[in-house]
Amino acid sequence: MTVATISAVLLLAPLAGCDKGARKEQESGDRSLVVGFAQVGAESGWRTANTKSIKDEAAKRGITLKFSDAQQKQENQITAVRAFIAQNVDVIILAPIVETGFEPVLRDAKRAGIPVVLSDRRANVSDESLYATFVGSDFVEEGRRAARFLVEKTGGKATIAELQGTPGSAPANDRKKGFEEVIKGHPGMKIALSQTGDFTRARGKEVMEAFLNSPEGKTITALYAHNDDMAIGAIQAIEAAGMKPGTDIVIVSVDGVKAAFEAMAEGKLNCTVECNPLIGPQLFDLVEKVAAGEPVPKRVDVAESVYTQEQAKEALPNRQY
Ligand code: AHR
Repeated sequence: MTVATISAVLLLAPLAGCDKGARKEQESGDRSLVVGFAQVGAESGWRTANTKSIKDEAAKRGITLKFSDAQQKQENQITAVRAFIAQNVDVIILAPIVETGFEPVLRDAKRAGIPVVLSDRRANVSDESLYATFVGSDFVEEGRRAARFLVEKTGGKATIAELQGTPGSAPANDRKKGFEEVIKGHPGMKIALSQTGDFTRARGKEVMEAFLNSPEGKTITALYAHNDDMAIGAIQAIEAAGMKPGTDIVIVSVDGVKAAFEAMAEGKLNCTVECNPLIGPQLFDLVEKVAAGEPVPKRVDVAESVYTQEQAKEALPNRQY
């Protein structure tokens, strides 16, 4: 091979990658789409509902879904994406566990001509062309909504314990940011204790126990949990310490899972800010468009509400997750 040929091959390599998507589409004809889905794990009721919504929708549309559960470990998720690239799937869905560290594998997918759709959580990348589109919630706004509820409920005076989600994840970062943005304007509201509970019930309980046993723990009047599962774990810890959750400590969390509505109906949780996991239909509308080479918006938001104890009993029978 001459130097000129080698340079031509090197120059054409990325283009060959880009052509592959379109070529694959022509080759596939009526063949059903093959989609790889690199999911976060099964850490919460929200996640279980999200996985079900996505699997059900793929089945409904006759899409072959290759599913990987990363068990909340970024290295597992990167390995899964690499495996999907090796299997030459049509589209990859990725719900990034944390915001950073995905750029190299996203570059590999791009080089292989496989479009990536981000689901639920954002990834920070320097080049936006590394993913086709993102569908998910506005986590900053969820944090603001939780804080607004707490300000109203406590008259702007509270000593708050915070249970954060998985460190480095978009929902943990953004829910904290939105919450702090609102309480900043209320000098009577302060976060006295803050630690991660990794979005799980077990860790939420453990961390709340430790909070309650600490000197600052005795002064807590409110709890902000980044998800319902951690709030439910914390409720168990508060009860075990002989206090009344929802009364002695005002509690607000995020997600809107059925168990949170049950806790609200029993008066143990005061408010849940909805984060809708049932995004399967929206997600696959995008996946199909991306696979067909049609234009899609860079970001698609999910519609959500806020629920308080007063609405819980009535809303409970209709909760789907
Ligand atoms: O990314 C969404 C978050 O992840 C949910 O709020 C939480 O329950 C889940 O684990």
